[in-house]
Amino acid sequence: MSTRQWMRISEGTESMGSESRASGSDGSDDRLGGGGVPPAQQIRVGVLGVGYWGSKQLRVMRSTPGVSRVVAIDARLPLLSGMAHLLATGEGYTSLEAALPHIDAVVIATPPASHVPLGLAAIRAGKHVLIEKPLATTAAGAQELIQAAKEAGVTLMVGHTFEYNGAVWMLRELVQSRELGDLYYLDSARLNLGLYQSDVNVVFDLAPHDISIANHVLGATPTSVRAWGSRHVDPAFEDVAHLELGYDDIGVQAHIHVSWLDPRKVRLVTAVGSKKMAVYDDTNAEERIRIHDKAVTRSAGKGMEYHVGGVTSPVVRFDEPLAVQARHFVDCMTTGAQPRTDGANGLAVVQVIEAAQLSLAQERKVLISEVDGLPGLVPVPAQRSAATAVL
Ligand SMILES: NC(=O)c1ccc[n+]([C@@H]2O[C@H](COP(=O)([O-])OP(=O)(O)OC[C@H]3O[C@@H](n4cnc5c(N)ncnc54)[C@H](O)[C@@H]3O)[C@@H](O)[C@H]2O)c1
Repeated sequence: MSTRQWMRISEGTESMGSESRASGSDGSDDRLGGGGVPPAQQIRVGVLGVGYWGSKQLRVMRSTPGVSRVVAIDARLPLLSGMAHLLATGEGYTSLEAALPHIDAVVIATPPASHVPLGLAAIRAGKHVLIEKPLATTAAGAQELIQAAKEAGVTLMVGHTFEYNGAVWMLRELVQSRELGDLYYLDSARLNLGLYQSDVNVVFDLAPHDISIANHVLGATPTSVRAWGSRHVDPAFEDVAHLELGYDDIGVQAHIHVSWLDPRKVRLVTAVGSKKMAVYDDTNAEERIRIHDKAVTRSAGKGMEYHVGGVTSPVVRFDEPLAVQARHFVDCMTTGAQPRTDGANGLAVVQVIEAAQLSLAQERKVLISEVDGLPGLVPVPAQRSAATAVL
């Protein structure tokens, strides 16, 4: 593994790297006919890390067609409520190494800094892997995973859950069909009194969702990032941050606000076009998408003209995104198909996060080309391996 040291940032503290992916597959993963594609109905899945998110993965994997067995793998398994009994029945292990002979695939839901070493260990043992976001904490780490999966001929998928969400698909359709007119910008806010992570800042923790949504909705990846952040509670990590992503190829900007330190739970993505505007509110189960027939135009001699029409809320069929993602993982493993959120998809998001870390450290706009993860490019800040959560 080639985890490189990031440059130190201000006040002698340290920051961390990031992860990846774009709006489609890049063809770089050639896992067809690769190592050990198990027949359908016989896939044995290990969920590595069964804390907050991994326990959801465990539930979903247990009811995913094509999965014959699911085991929980966690160093703290004996201490986790309702999990200790799994050790006695062979449905639980305390290390990946111990579980490897009993599984065909691994869902990795451990803290971000561990994704690359654990992912490489699983891949090199010939296992298919679904790695939670962010795929890695550096672009170099993501590149290593992609290369290793290619060599082993196994499926590498990243858990960009929102790319399996019907509301996000609808927002993409509204943008791509040009129903909103020419898209001016995307604006995303992911705020609440969040759980402070032990190894990464709020950009690593929350922004992967917004970046993957933006890439998916726009059908593009950004060329530059500018980030602003502040550390209010934990002196080592930003708990509030703003990102400005430049999609220069399509002339669009995306603004992202992420926070662990906000009294409201906000999950909003707004797409503003020349004809209409659409709002995706993930906290509103009844009306996840609202289309506002509102626009502002400027014409010679008349100045600004405002069009204010009605609001519509199309029905969004709900299928739990995590379950959709799990079914897709099984499908890719059994058919050798390229995952919708493959290694390249993960890399594109990691590059943005890594560029954002550099932008935070150097207080400047950073080009994505500066952090492509290939050897000899920008060094990345070190990460903290363990710390105490504040909440
Ligand atoms: N897709 C989503 O919407 C979503 C939501 C939340 C979290 N996540 C991601 O899920 C991952 C886990 O987050 P979380 O909040 O569940 O963390 P968590 O701290 O609640 O759980 C992590 C678990 O991993 C275990 N673990 C760590 N290292 C291990 C190792 N080497 N071997 C075995 N077990 C190990 C820990 O004991 C712990 O139980 C993160 O990457 C996070 O970004 C994704």
